[in-house]
Amino acid sequence: MSAWTTHNEIAAAATLLKAGGVVAFPTETVYGLGAEVSRSSAVRRIFEIKRRPVGHPLIVHIADSSRLQYWAEDVPQQAWQLAEHFWPGPLTLILPRSRYVPKDVTGGQDTVGLRVPAHPVALDLLNALGPEEAIAAPSANRFGRISPTTAAHVREELGEAVDMILDGGPCEVGLESTIVGFEDQGSGKGSRAMILRPGGITVAALEEALAGRVISKVSSQPMPMPRVPGALASHYAPATPLELWPGEYIYSRVRDLRARGLNIALVTRPGQFHEQLENSTKENIVYVPMPVEPERYGQLLYGTLRRLDNAGFDRLLIEALPDDPQWMAVADRLRRASCFNAAKNAENEVVHG
Ligand code: TXA
Ligand code: MG
Repeated sequence: MSAWTTHNEIAAAATLLKAGGVVAFPTETVYGLGAEVSRSSAVRRIFEIKRRPVGHPLIVHIADSSRLQYWAEDVPQQAWQLAEHFWPGPLTLILPRSRYVPKDVTGGQDTVGLRVPAHPVALDLLNALGPEEAIAAPSANRFGRISPTTAAHVREELGEAVDMILDGGPCEVGLESTIVGFEDQGSGKGSRAMILRPGGITVAALEEALAGRVISKVSSQPMPMPRVPGALASHYAPATPLELWPGEYIYSRVRDLRARGLNIALVTRPGQFHEQLENSTKENIVYVPMPVEPERYGQLLYGTLRRLDNAGFDRLLIEALPDDPQWMAVADRLRRASCFNAAKNAENEVVHG
């Protein structure tokens, strides 16, 4: 039970879901926009509310791993190991869909993404719904925008469009779940785990749990070349142009932009380059210090981007993060939020809607 939500509210939310309603609820990663899996009109409404193209699969949230075999088929040994190790938690497993998962939920695909969330409100809601049921839920934001990490974010963005918003406080992880799929190696050799989206669980933690290598299918472009917005500014999120710069270049970029009279928010971790800021004039710059620990940085990232996006800056300048597995999830989200290349953004939205 959470300090934020009462039993009555959870019971009311479960009743709404059973009746085909759409309910936003907290998870430990980000807030989700949920429909009961078999309610096709509610599932359809999720796509409409998000303005998400159909064909983008929704993650199916379940109360515990005992129902894994009901919703999925041919579950490989590695999936069981990961479920055992990380559920409830920020891990989504992509598995062959069973016939109980409607195709509108999986965007027509033969696989399904399954996850047991770790937030007490999400688990209470799933249990109130009943052990047979499941909640299909993407992040509770409009397609291509920043995922919400508080109930206020959901209210701001989706407001009246949803039937109910459960408040579970700020999300502890703050970034979406790690998505893992499995590659069949053929001839009875079993399958190999691959990371499809980095998130709350690191590669190192996955490899430790599996006592073996995990393949990364995440495009990690060589970090970090100075990049600036192109003419085709198709913004993923936020709406304010966001530039990623390595620490050693960021202050000269600040000086250039300031010379053009732009209002700038500068987001960096305190460190060796900070002195340069102290030595430069701070006019027209708002300095936003971020934590040096990746988990804490991830927790604050989306809320910070939202706040800065609403503050009317001309440009957000963010220090690019180290090309280090610990920073993989945060660096991935920052790359996607910086919109330098419209084609790249279109591709990103396929995985990150
Ligand atoms: O942490 C999270 O994962 C949050 C919370 C609410 O659980 N959910 C979330 O959902 O981030 P969403 O829809 O915003 O992003 C999930 C992504 C989809 O865009 C899709 O690319 C991928 O997961 N996905 C879901 N099912 C899939 C499948 N069957 N095959 C491949 N990718 C899938
Ligand atoms: Mg999303």
